[in-house]
Amino acid sequence: MGSLTDEYAVWRTAPDASRLCYQHFLWRELYKSNIHPSIKLTGKPDLRIAEFAAGHCLWAMQVAEEFPEARVDASDIDLNLCPPKPELPANLSVRKWSFFDPIPEDWREAFDLIHLRLVVQPFAGKQDPKPVIEKFVSMLKPGGYIQWDEYDYADADKGHVYSVNDPNAIPDPRVSHNASTKIWQLIMDTFQWPVEHFDKLSTYYREAGLVDVHDFRTRPPPSVFRAFYEHWYALNAQLLPVMESKSAAAGAEARKLLTQIKHDAQQNGVYSAHITKMVVGQKPA
Ligand SMILES: C[S@@+](CC[C@H](N)C(=O)[O-])C[C@H]1O[C@@H](n2cnc3c(N)ncnc32)[C@H](O)[C@@H]1O
Repeated sequence: MGSLTDEYAVWRTAPDASRLCYQHFLWRELYKSNIHPSIKLTGKPDLRIAEFAAGHCLWAMQVAEEFPEARVDASDIDLNLCPPKPELPANLSVRKWSFFDPIPEDWREAFDLIHLRLVVQPFAGKQDPKPVIEKFVSMLKPGGYIQWDEYDYADADKGHVYSVNDPNAIPDPRVSHNASTKIWQLIMDTFQWPVEHFDKLSTYYREAGLVDVHDFRTRPPPSVFRAFYEHWYALNAQLLPVMESKSAAAGAEARKLLTQIKHDAQQNGVYSAHITKMVVGQKPA
């Protein structure tokens, strides 16, 4: 494994930046917290929290404000989505770092909590995240936690949830109106995202020595379901040109499916979103 390239560069555009910010607020609303409630940080001396692949740094900024006594470190392979320094909370430091780079010496056994969210893309090409997980574990203090948030990618059919205006007219949208599920599978295949590995994060946590490991899965409730759908649609629209540049055939198929998704929503009242999950584990104290 190893990647000095920054494939995400093609995504780091204004629509992507605003989509990522919007998505952050949806996750925050969904869990009513940035940090899963099972993670106990109160009373920890010299509290240190890190966010890797932080993007716009909103999670890190909010957590730094929530824990003014903590030192918070945010990092990413590219800091262009991050706010200007004067806008950052005083207890938040930002550093350029790829998780395929060597561990900075001052980050060994440094953190009480490491957070990551939505990082399947950096592992494109079906890369195995295990060596990176081991790296993260070595950056935790004894008793420290990892919280890794992702959509439930493994089985597009199960991970995808549908909501319909008229369940009598459309009793099984997973079968009759599944363009959304199909486009998801197409994206995973085209970018070679390692969905099988990401389904095993909790197993990999245990193999890396973490305990108290939980996969907390949440279906977006009605209050945010439509908003997650809008995000999902915007992501697909934004991905189309990237798909087309990778494979003309996949791009054409994705365009057809996207049209179908819109039709399903507007004509048949069928919407789709994904199950979200937070994978939490703790280094033995
Ligand atoms: C989908 S965004 C998620 C950003 C943020 N975590 C969030 O939830 O909004 C993926 C992020 O991974 C970053 N990234 C890509 N490759 C990386 C790498 N090798 N190391 C660290 N971050 C990387 C990208 O720059 C981008 O900010």
